[in-house]
Amino acid sequence: MSKRFYITTPIFYVNDVPHIGHAYTTLACDVLARYKRARGFEVFFLTGTDEHGQKVEKAALANGETPLELADRVVKRFQALWDKLDISYTDFIRTTQERHKNGVQDFFRRVQDRGDIYLGEYEDWYCTPCETFWTETQLLDGCCPDCGRPTEKIKEASYFFRMSAYQQALIEHIEANPDFIQPRSRRNEILNFVREGLRDLSISRTSFSWGIPVPGDERHVIYVWFDALTNYITALGYPKDEDGDFKAFWPADVHVIGKDITRFHCVYWPTFLMAAGLPLPKKVFAHGWWTVEGKKMSKSLQNVVEPNMLIDRYGIDAIRYFLLREVPFGLDGDFSHSALVHRINSDLANDLGNLLSRSTAMLSKYFDGLLPEAAAPEGVDEAFVARFPKAVREMDEQMVELAFNKALQTIWSLVGAANKYIDDTAPWALAKDPADRPRLGAVMYNLIEAVRVIALLVGPFMPGTAEKILQTLRCEEAISSLAGGDRWGLMKPGTCVDKAAPLFPRIEE
Ligand code: MSP
Repeated sequence: MSKRFYITTPIFYVNDVPHIGHAYTTLACDVLARYKRARGFEVFFLTGTDEHGQKVEKAALANGETPLELADRVVKRFQALWDKLDISYTDFIRTTQERHKNGVQDFFRRVQDRGDIYLGEYEDWYCTPCETFWTETQLLDGCCPDCGRPTEKIKEASYFFRMSAYQQALIEHIEANPDFIQPRSRRNEILNFVREGLRDLSISRTSFSWGIPVPGDERHVIYVWFDALTNYITALGYPKDEDGDFKAFWPADVHVIGKDITRFHCVYWPTFLMAAGLPLPKKVFAHGWWTVEGKKMSKSLQNVVEPNMLIDRYGIDAIRYFLLREVPFGLDGDFSHSALVHRINSDLANDLGNLLSRSTAMLSKYFDGLLPEAAAPEGVDEAFVARFPKAVREMDEQMVELAFNKALQTIWSLVGAANKYIDDTAPWALAKDPADRPRLGAVMYNLIEAVRVIALLVGPFMPGTAEKILQTLRCEEAISSLAGGDRWGLMKPGTCVDKAAPLFPRIEE
C-alpha cells in the first residue's frame, strides 16, 4: 500500500473576501502537501468554502442578493487567489454542494441513531459573527467574550448533541495522544477548557433557514459548525466507506487551522466523531494570527492586506517565502511592508539570488557553462558537502513538526554556507593559474551541485523559483525532484548550464 497523507485547510466563510490571513493557512498546507508528495506520499489536500449560516445569510441580505448568489461570487475570488498563489489542492468543497449536504444529513442521522442527539429548548446568547452560543455568565458586559461584539438572546426549540457524555473520553484521548493538538500551548488551553466540563451543544436552529435541513424535521437547519466540520469527511465521499477516498484517507493526518477556531476542531469535532463511531483526526495544528503594522486586521480599520495586490507587486514566491519564514508557525506575527521588503532583499535577492547568479556566471566564464568534474576533494569541500545530507535530515524533522520557519532557516544555512564557500575558495584567484584548473573545476562542481540541492529543498515553498533554477541548471527530470534527487553528486559532469537571469530583483523602499 502506498503511503497516504490527508491535509486540510479550514473552509472559508464567503461573507468576506480572501485576505492575507486566509492565504496563510492555505499556503502552509500547500507547502506541506508539496513536500509530502515529493517524499513519495499520495496526498489529498482539501480546501473549500463554508457557505451556510446566519452570518452569510445576513451578508447576502445586506448586499441585496441571495446567499447562494453571494457564495457563487465569493467562491470565485477564493479559487482565483489559490490559483494565483500556486496552491496545489486536490479538491475544493463547497458546503452547498449536494455531496456535502447528503453527507451531513447522514452524519446527523448516524449520531442521532446512536442516541446522542435529542430535541430540547434553547435559551442563550448568540454571537452571529462568531456563530457561537454563550451562557449569560460567559458574556463580558453583555458582549461576546471572543470578539467583543454584541450578542442576541435566542430562545427556540433545538436539537442538542450530548457533548457532555464525551468529556472524559476526550480528556483521555488528548492525554494519550500528546501530538493530537499542537502547539502545546493550545493543547493546554483545550485540556483546561474540557476539564471545566462540557455542556450539551445546540446543533439546530429554527430562526433562519439558510442551512442544511435536519433530516426528518425540516423546520430546523443544522448548526453551521456541525455542517462545516463534516466537510472533512464529506469531501472524501462519506458515507461511502467500503472503498474510495474516505476509506483510503480518513482519519486526516492534519487539520491546519487558525488559533481562533481551536475549540471547534479540538472539542466539537472529535466528540461528534466519537459519537458517530468514527476515528479522530491524527493532529490539529493551530497557527497564530497576523496583525498588520501592529494592528488587528479589520474592515473598519481599512488595513486588510489584499493578497492579489501583494503578489502583483512582489511576486508569488516572495509572498510564499515571507509568510512562512517571518513567523514561527503557531505564534502570532506582524505583517509590515518594510519587513517584507527586507526579507526579499536580504534572503532572496542577496543570499539566494546572488548565489545562483555568481555560480552560473563563473561557470560560464571559466568553463563555457560546461560542468567540470569534482576531482580530489580538499578539507573545505568535504566539510561543505557533508552539510547537505545533514540539513536534509533536519528539514525532514522540521517539516513533520510543521516548523516551516525552521525548515527555511535550515535551507538558508546551506545558502549561507555556499556563499561562504565561494569566498573561502576564491575561484577568481584559482582562475588566474592554469595549474589550479582541476581545483577550480572541483569548486565549480560543488557550487552548482549545491545550488541544485538547495533548489529541490526550496521547491515546496517556492515552486516557481525552484523550477527556474533547475531549468537554468538544465537538470534532467530524475534529479529535479526531492524523490530520489536530494542526494549529493547526482549532477553529471559535462552538463551545459545556463547563465542565470536575476531571480529576485532588489526592491527599492
Ligand atoms: N468557516 C470557518 C472555518 C470552518 S472549518 C470547518 C472560519 N472561516 S474564516 O473564513 O473566518 O477563517 C478561516 C481561517 O482563516 C481560520 O483558520 C482563521 O484563523 C484564519 N484567519 C482569519 N484571519 C486571520 C489572520 N488575521 N491571521 C491568520 N489567520 C487568520 O473560521
